[in-house]
Amino acid sequence: PLTAEINARGHLTIGGCDVVELVAQFGSPLYILDEFTFRTACRQYQDTLQQTYGGEFLVLYASKAWNCLATCALAHSEGLGIDVASGGELYTALSAGVPASHIYFHGNNKSPQELLYALEVNCTIVADNWLELERLAAYAEEHDLSTPPRVMLRLTPGIECHTHEYIRTGHLDSKFGFDPQQFPELLQFAKAHPELDWVGLHAHIGSQIFEEQPHLDLCDVLVDWLAQAREAMLPMRELNVGGGLGIRYVESDNPPAIAHWTKAISHQLSQACQQRHLPLPKLICEPGRSIVGPAAVTAYTVGSRKVIPELRTYIAVDGGMSDNPRPITYQAQYTALCANRMTTAATETVRVAGKHCESGDILLSQVTLPPLQANDILVVTSTGAYNYSMASNYNRVPRPAAVVVCEGEANLILQRETYADLVAHDVLPLRLSTPAP
Ligand code: LLP
Repeated sequence: PLTAEINARGHLTIGGCDVVELVAQFGSPLYILDEFTFRTACRQYQDTLQQTYGGEFLVLYASKAWNCLATCALAHSEGLGIDVASGGELYTALSAGVPASHIYFHGNNKSPQELLYALEVNCTIVADNWLELERLAAYAEEHDLSTPPRVMLRLTPGIECHTHEYIRTGHLDSKFGFDPQQFPELLQFAKAHPELDWVGLHAHIGSQIFEEQPHLDLCDVLVDWLAQAREAMLPMRELNVGGGLGIRYVESDNPPAIAHWTKAISHQLSQACQQRHLPLPKLICEPGRSIVGPAAVTAYTVGSRKVIPELRTYIAVDGGMSDNPRPITYQAQYTALCANRMTTAATETVRVAGKHCESGDILLSQVTLPPLQANDILVVTSTGAYNYSMASNYNRVPRPAAVVVCEGEANLILQRETYADLVAHDVLPLRLSTPAP
């Protein structure tokens, strides 16, 4: 889906911009976000729902995948709402001009300050536990609110899916959401607290999922809860099926297309509601990875080479686990290209290492590329999701810059951090800043 081509110089272009020139202009490493791919994914979700779902719907961009002003503004400009998972993500979405009415606030341990912030700006709060419900109810009772806070209930659906165990969230032994066995008590609580607007139900089963069946099962489970709520005289009007659609990182990955996945969910939910004679709820989904993941690449500059005879060749680049912690965290696999040698045959199999003081800082454990030399530009693809958003300053490496590219134009969206930025929040106590006697 990336608008990638090869130009007359044999260089990779994205969004009509020569990647080698982008690195020369904006520095290395560099995140490059392809606006067209991002927008296309947003449209595929919305168009499919428009064509296949008879009721109202809303697509939320799960901004945890890459939360910054530009990504929030892009999603908003496509008509998407924003899923935020902290006060900081909420602040960023609001600063990008997203109205609170289009923001849904998640989290299994929102602090009192975060809850207060959410209540003040009046976004939808996806309640995750009893403590939160009690705090919300107490707040609403104490304050004379003109509009009751919008609250959704997140439940753990007990659905297993095949993905890395760290990113599975739907199974019962999960830190997220209410135990569905407590649903009757939750409904009682909701009825006892009409000062809160009980908007609907939410569940999320995990991330980087390729099978459709778990989400179809989830639709059935959600509709079943919706029916129970109705029977208890609590008509809720929104169902949020979460996110989780996987993307292709390497050739062997075969995720369903966005349109296919969305259509399947839309049909399943409609059918389940019909069978139970329920009016169609507003269908909400909140994809992150499938919107922004394929839309960005990371460009690195090749540095040192270490050849271990008869064993392996290591090629080191000028970034690593600080800008992409996914390989070391989840054994995630990626695909790489040499942006300045796109017409050279790939003949050398190497291991691409990062620059950090950590043996596990390997970006690609084995990849076949054109023979690389120092100063070549190595591009790792599909790095839009959970790269920048999980980046760190390990080894005090400044975070890279990011640009958005479209139709031959590149615009900076994140400034490269400087060494001064790195110490900007450091405090040197006076006692330590005076020379030793
Ligand atoms: N909604 C909720 C409540 C979530 O927890 C998540 C992701 C999403 C939506 C978006 O899921 P997506 O469409 O992006 O799969 N850091 C991990 C992924 C963590 C996912 C966390 N929750 C990784 O790099 O693979």
